[in-house]
Parts: sequence; C-alpha cells; structure tokens
Amino acid sequence: MLVTGNDIMQKAHEGGYAVGAFNTNNLEMTKAIIEAAEEEKAPVIIQTSQSAIAYAGIEELAMIVRQLGEKASVPVALHLDHGTDWKVIMQCLRYGWTSIMFDGSKYDFSKNMELTKKVIDIANPMGVSVEAELGKIGGVEDQVRVLSKDATMTDPDEAEEFVNKTGVDFLAIAIGTCHGVYQGEPDLDFERLDVIKKRLNMPLVLHGASGVPEEDIRKAVSLGINKVNIDTDLRQAFQRNMHKFVQEQPDVYDPRKMLAPTTNAIKEVVKTKIKMCGSSNKA
Ligand code: 13P
Repeated sequence: MLVTGNDIMQKAHEGGYAVGAFNTNNLEMTKAIIEAAEEEKAPVIIQTSQSAIAYAGIEELAMIVRQLGEKASVPVALHLDHGTDWKVIMQCLRYGWTSIMFDGSKYDFSKNMELTKKVIDIANPMGVSVEAELGKIGGVEDQVRVLSKDATMTDPDEAEEFVNKTGVDFLAIAIGTCHGVYQGEPDLDFERLDVIKKRLNMPLVLHGASGVPEEDIRKAVSLGINKVNIDTDLRQAFQRNMHKFVQEQPDVYDPRKMLAPTTNAIKEVVKTKIKMCGSSNKA
C-alpha cells in the first residue's frame, strides 16, 4: 500500500528502528526494491532525485512507483530526494509523491528555515510529509555537489531552533557521512547524533549511507536514525553485475535477460540494508 513518509517515519521513531530509503530511476529498480521489502516484510521508502525525474519523466516515474506501491503488501512511500527546484517540488505534489525532501542546505540558516517552512505550509495540508537538511552533507548525489571543505556538521542548538520554527516532519543531519563513493573510511560523530536525538526526540535521517560499515549503521540506528539513504550501493551492484554478465555471456542481446542479474543483485543489496536497519517484519 502507498502511504506518507510520516506514516513510516513516526512508527520507526517510536519503535527505535530505521527504514531503508532507496533511490530508483526506472521500472526494474523499483520492482527490485519492492520485492525485497515484501520478502523482508518491511516498510520501505522509494526515492527519486530530480535527475531521476528528468531521466524517466515525472508522470512515468510517478505511475511506476505509485502503481507498484499500491499493489505492494508492505507500506511504500514515494519520496523526492534533495528537492532544490521549486517547480519540481510543486510537480511532485501534483503527481502524487507522498513525501518531499526540501534541501535548503546551500542557503544560510535563516533562509533555509524560511524556504523549508514555505514547502511545509503547502505540502503538509495536502497530506505530504517534508524532510529538511541542516548542516551540509559532503559528496555528490546526482546534481547536488558539496566539496569536503564545504561540508559542515549539524549544530544541535540550530537543529532545535530549526525544528521548533518550521515543524518539519523529519530532519536529515550531517554527522560525517557523505554521498557517493568514500575516499577512506567514513568517520561518524555518534556523540553529536546522540545529543541531537535526545534534544529533538523526532525522526532523523542519515544520508550517504552506502559504503558505511554495518556496525556503524547499526549503531547510528540504535542512537536514533530512522531513515537510511542508499543510492551508490545499488548503482555499484548494477554496474558489477552488468559488467560480469557481458563478460560471461557476450552473445546475449535480450535486454530482459541482461537486466535480470542486475535486478537480482539490487534486490539482494536492498534486503541486506533492510536487515541492517532493523525494519524486517515491521510492515
Ligand atoms: P549514497 O551515495 O551513500 O548512496 O547516499 C544516498 C543518499 O543519501 C541520497 O540522498
């Protein structure tokens, strides 16, 4: 069934677990994510970046995810990842996204707060949940690029003021992860996470979770992360398996046969991440 981001996130916050939020671009990835969630009996968030929308078409992507989501035996939310373009955000509301991230992290604190509030004032009365980002998460996520020198951790005092003044549904915090492929080991600031969770007592989001060791994800979840964003790990599973397939079976030219192992690989990654998040059997 298709639900709002808040339906999933509030339960995760109250139950002390996290839900996997997986990026999709097409039919195959969406099917793989939903099948994995169904096998794990887990709620799931399917997210689309603005460039995924530009790639697939907004109506087409909405139809794929909404149709498969409605038929699914587990709760599925359709979420806009890193919404920065006002027009795309409004179109997502129009085409049935059930959750929106407004990413105002490139603005200063008060501008970020002002624009986030504007999105909330429109989206919440329509029954659509809103995620915001405070601090700056480093790395590359599709069209959003933050150099490591510009990345900044979330300040707990600012986070409290931001949430009180905007009433945002869930907050993405910067605690040392980054988008894309890690150069070296991720170094998470668990103390900061602990302080922020205790001060805010609300659902929190971890971006840049691909490539983060399992014990760190589990620790972050135990300290209050409720949404774990994964994109790069799915892309890499796709790339590895496509490469292997082409090398092993160079004469096969049926796209369905070529996509089968990559889709299965994505499904396996999604299942592993769901287990790490602790959301198996929470549907
Ligand atoms: P990764 O690049 O680590 O998969 O992060 C995805 C993400 O945070 C999407 O917002």
